[in-house]
Amino acid sequence: MTIDLAAFPHDFLWGTATSAYQIEGAVAEDGRSPSIWDTFSHTPGKTDNGDTGDVACDHYHRWREDVDLMRRLGTNAYRLSVAWPRVLPDGDGQVNAKGLDFYDRLIDALLDAGITPFVTLYHWDLPQVLQDRGGWPERATAEAFAHYASVVAERLGDRVTHWATLNEPLCSAWIGHLEGKMAPGLTDLTAAVRASYHLLLGHGLGVQAIRAAVPDAEVGLVVNLSPVRPATDRPEDVAAARRQDGHVNRWWLDPVHGRGFPADMREVYGVDLPERPGDLDTIAAPLDWLGLNYYFPACIADDPDGPAPRARAVRREGVPRTAMDWEIDATGIETLLLRLAREYGARKLYVTENGSAFTDTVRPDGTIDDPERRHYLEQHVAACASAVRQGAPLAGYFAWSLLDNFEWAYGYDKRFGLVHVDYATQTRTVKGSGHRYAEIVRAHREATAPAA
Ligand code: FCB
Repeated sequence: MTIDLAAFPHDFLWGTATSAYQIEGAVAEDGRSPSIWDTFSHTPGKTDNGDTGDVACDHYHRWREDVDLMRRLGTNAYRLSVAWPRVLPDGDGQVNAKGLDFYDRLIDALLDAGITPFVTLYHWDLPQVLQDRGGWPERATAEAFAHYASVVAERLGDRVTHWATLNEPLCSAWIGHLEGKMAPGLTDLTAAVRASYHLLLGHGLGVQAIRAAVPDAEVGLVVNLSPVRPATDRPEDVAAARRQDGHVNRWWLDPVHGRGFPADMREVYGVDLPERPGDLDTIAAPLDWLGLNYYFPACIADDPDGPAPRARAVRREGVPRTAMDWEIDATGIETLLLRLAREYGARKLYVTENGSAFTDTVRPDGTIDDPERRHYLEQHVAACASAVRQGAPLAGYFAWSLLDNFEWAYGYDKRFGLVHVDYATQTRTVKGSGHRYAEIVRAHREATAPAA
C-alpha cells in the first residue's frame, strides 16, 4: 500500500516503544526491589501460563544489541520507561546509584546511535513497598512520584529532553483497581477513583519536578484513548456511549486541559474526590505535547446493572481483529488525532504507541513474514498522514513494540514486536513488518529531503 509520506514534516520522529517491566528482566539485580507487577504476575492465576517478567527479553543485559536493532531499522527516536523500583527501591527513600547507571548508559548509547530518547517515568511498575502503604489511592504516592521524577530528571536531564510522566493512567486506575485484571488487581470503585485522581495529581507534580530539574524539557503525558460509538441509536445506548467516552477519554483529558473532572462522570462514579485547593491547577500544568496510544475503537451498549460506567462493549461481527481480539480500525487514530487538535487545542502530538499482536510463524529458514502486522502498520501510518493533512500537529510515531515482550496479563503468547524474540535463546529476528517499517522511514526521508 502506498502511504502519503510527504504529509509528515521532514523532522518527523520515527520510533519504537517498550517499557521496563515488559523487556528488562533482571528483576532482582543491582538493588532493584519488587514492583506491583512482580507481585501480581507471581500470584497464581493472574497471568496466562503463569508468565512473569523475571527474564522477559533480558534487555537489562542485551541493551547494546537492542539499540543496534533500532539503528538498523533506521529509527531516530525510542520511547523507554524507567523502572521506579530500580531507582528508589524503598519507593521514596535512598537513591540506588546502580539502578540509575543502567539508564545512564542506555541513554548514552541511544544518543551515540542518533536516536532521540523519550523517557516515560511510570509505566505501571509501582514499587511494592508503596503499594503496601496504600498505593495510588493514597496522596503520598503522588508525592513520592514527584520525588522520583526529580531524581531521574536530575540525573538524565543533561541529555534527555523529552519526558513523559505517566503511561496510560486509565489502565493503572480502571484496569488495576476496578477490573482487577492488572496490578494491583483490585475491584474497588472508590479505590479506583481515588487512584485516578492521585495519578493525575502525581502527573502534575511530576511535571513541576521535571521542569525544575531540566529547563529545556519537553514534557508530556501519554494517554490511551478510544473513539466510542453507540451499538444502536437507542437513547440508552447513546447515553452509555457518552458515559464510556467520559470513562476512557474525558476523565483523563479534561482535567489536564484545565477543565476539571467531568461533572457527569463524577455523578456516575458517586465517589468523593480527595480534592485539595490548588490540585486542579497542578493537574492542569501546561504541557509541551500529548502522547496518544491507540489500538482499537469501542462499540458500546447500555449495561444498566453493570459496574460503573454501566456500559458494555459489543463485539461487532465481520470486522477484522488482532490476536488480542481487538477490532482493527485505522480511522480511529485519525479521529482521535483530530479530536485532540480541534476539541482540546493540542499544539504538539505524538503517537506514542500503536501496533498489533498476531501469531507469528518462524519459517524453516529462520525468517518471519507477518503480513497482517505489516498491513496494520501501513494502514495506521496512512491514517496518521491523513490526520496531518487535515491539520493535526503530529510530530512523531512510535510503533509498539520494538520487541516481542511480556504482554502483562497475557504473558508472552501475544507478540507485538517488529522484531521477533525467541525466548529460549533470546535471539532477535527482524520480522517482515520491521523491514517494512525501515522502508517507510527511509522513504519518508527521501520524500521530504530538502532540495540540494
Ligand atoms: C498498552 C501498554 C503497553 C502494551 C500495549 C499493547 O496499553 O501501554 O505496555 O502492553 O498496550
